[in-house]
Amino acid sequence: MMLKDKSILLVISGGIAAYKALELIRLIKKSGGHVRCILTKGGEQFVTPLSVSALSEEQVYTNIWSLKDETEMGHIRLSREADLIVVAPASADIMAKMAHGQADDLATTTLLASNKPIMIAPAMNPQMWNNAATQDNLRTLKERGIIIAHPATGEMACGETGEGRMLEATEIMEHIQNFFFDRPLKGKSAIVTAGPTYEPIDPVRFIGNHSSGKQGYAIAEALRDLGADVTLISGPTALPDPQSIKVVRVSSAAEMLEATEHSLPADIAVCAAAVSDWTPAQTQDQKIKKRADQSPPAIKLTENPDILKTLSNHKNRPSLVIGFAAETENLIENAQAKLVKKGCDIIVANAVSGTEKTFGSDQNHVYLVSSDKIEEWPRARKTEIARKLAERIKDILTE
Ligand code: C5P
Repeated sequence: MMLKDKSILLVISGGIAAYKALELIRLIKKSGGHVRCILTKGGEQFVTPLSVSALSEEQVYTNIWSLKDETEMGHIRLSREADLIVVAPASADIMAKMAHGQADDLATTTLLASNKPIMIAPAMNPQMWNNAATQDNLRTLKERGIIIAHPATGEMACGETGEGRMLEATEIMEHIQNFFFDRPLKGKSAIVTAGPTYEPIDPVRFIGNHSSGKQGYAIAEALRDLGADVTLISGPTALPDPQSIKVVRVSSAAEMLEATEHSLPADIAVCAAAVSDWTPAQTQDQKIKKRADQSPPAIKLTENPDILKTLSNHKNRPSLVIGFAAETENLIENAQAKLVKKGCDIIVANAVSGTEKTFGSDQNHVYLVSSDKIEEWPRARKTEIARKLAERIKDILTE
């Protein structure tokens, strides 16, 4: 609920990218924000007032001359009641009007009458974007303090390739969050491992475990929310890819190690994956057949690489390396021993036996074990533990 109590006035101008504004409305609502929309005449050619009002759960404002719009919410009040005005997509035309102070419809009049911060997400053909007129307008708007969600380079709806493609809704959300919040881990990179590993016995069988990945995914999201650039290296889980995080899906411990080393250098590493300690010494190419005349096959195991230990002793060691320990007995003693053995900075220890159901649960009860102290964090939702851990990481890295 990052945008709780925040109110955004979204101006949707004409452009094929207007469809992304619908997704943006959904994301703002999902994160607890309030969004009211103005749809320009051009915008109405691409998305309908009905879709916009259904998603925003608000009346849509389209016409400055409509007595209804003006009586319910005049153009002055529209901007006064917002914390931020976002123009997405911002067409070349609306940028030109903003730069020159033109006010010939509800959107431009509201923008001119605004005393609130304004962000624009330009969207146009690369030639229009690169045109000296647009670039001059852009400079003018920037000089006046307008926040620019700079367009990306890529293939355009018109078939041409170049700069001018509007950012995706999730990327515009990042800009909105950057505007509202202090992002203390901005510029820091983090690797998070999560989920189980599957160690292949043959093409259809594997050795795995009950890890759901929930705790690791929540940590990746909490670090992202503080502004870190996060790579999530995930074993097989049923969880969807979190937004604005680079997700690398792997299966075995060997693959997880390779992906992790490949993601270095990083400032932070949190190894929350439940990596299998052992793997079959040999993976059979064909499915092992059950034969009546033979006893069950013996599977010879070898030790897997230890990812946490490798990271802790790596020449590109992250400044902060955090491991997890799931133990069924002697939780603290085992965690302390693990801290030394692996060479990491903190072990987050959780009990996985008896009443302390952790695997697959939404809750966790942990102890933070470092070389000089042991801290107990009471049972809480995994998202809450993740948020606290991300805060602690921030404190350590910024102290
Ligand atoms: O040794 P144990 O598996 O109990 O250690 C748990 C910690 O070590 C976790 O942070 C886990 O992600 C990490 N680990 C690892 N590679 C392994 C085994 C464990 O990164 N092969």
